[in-house]
Amino acid sequence: MSVEVDFRRITTKTLQVLKHKGIKITALTAYDFITAKLLDNAGIDLVLVGDSLSNVFQGNETTLPVTMDEMIYHTKAVCKGIERAMVVVDMPFMSYQTNVDEAFRNAGRILKETPAGGVKLEGGERVAESIRKITDAGIPVMGHIGLTPQSIHQFGSYKARGKDIEEADQIINDAVVLEQAGAFAIVLEKIPMELAEKVTKKLKIPTIGIGAGMHCDGQILVTPDMLGLNVNFHPRFVRHYAELAKTIDSAVRQYIEDIKNNQFPTDKESY
Ligand code: KIV
Repeated sequence: MSVEVDFRRITTKTLQVLKHKGIKITALTAYDFITAKLLDNAGIDLVLVGDSLSNVFQGNETTLPVTMDEMIYHTKAVCKGIERAMVVVDMPFMSYQTNVDEAFRNAGRILKETPAGGVKLEGGERVAESIRKITDAGIPVMGHIGLTPQSIHQFGSYKARGKDIEEADQIINDAVVLEQAGAFAIVLEKIPMELAEKVTKKLKIPTIGIGAGMHCDGQILVTPDMLGLNVNFHPRFVRHYAELAKTIDSAVRQYIEDIKNNQFPTDKESY
């Protein structure tokens, strides 16, 4: 069953209303114009220009190499395909970790140079001061806690976070601090569903889960993962809604065969 909500443009206020009404928020990533347009036409609420573009677009092993200039380049392309969804942009590694002023300047750069509606930062308490300063300037900020891929070298693995009491308490505390700092929503990545439920109930702002169970206010997935394009990546939390890698493979094989056998182009496909 699809839940139709007639909002002409999704903003932070809309997301708040959706949480309040108990209507789930839908989010996916995009890095290019065509995909963004398809997601927007289908009615997605939020499009994230994720730094996952480092993995799935640039082919890097981690999210660390992607730069501010590259995030801005992709965001401009994405925004051209969007009429309704809210576009949020990941602040890349080292664009906000150095100090509050640097974070502020880079968040401002994203909003000034692209039509995006907000930025996302990874981390809890340690980024709260930056979030406060950025939101005070009128720039919507989304938090991201739990598994935060920019800290992969500190974590040492992509395993679920918050499984022991100490880390679970830290995640709850971080969520509250981010809300108090002015975040409009928080991504909860790869944490136990009971913990995500606790955080979701505690906060007034929406939680968007990825590998965080059904109790979050919304869900996000990396689009190439859920479309079955990223063939070597099979975490438990990704559901394949299509098998596009297989579709593309057979289309390209057919194309090659048709050309080799003089079946393409035909008279009808010629001038
Ligand atoms: O970069 C990204 O795609 C993300 C999502 C996984 C939430 O941060």
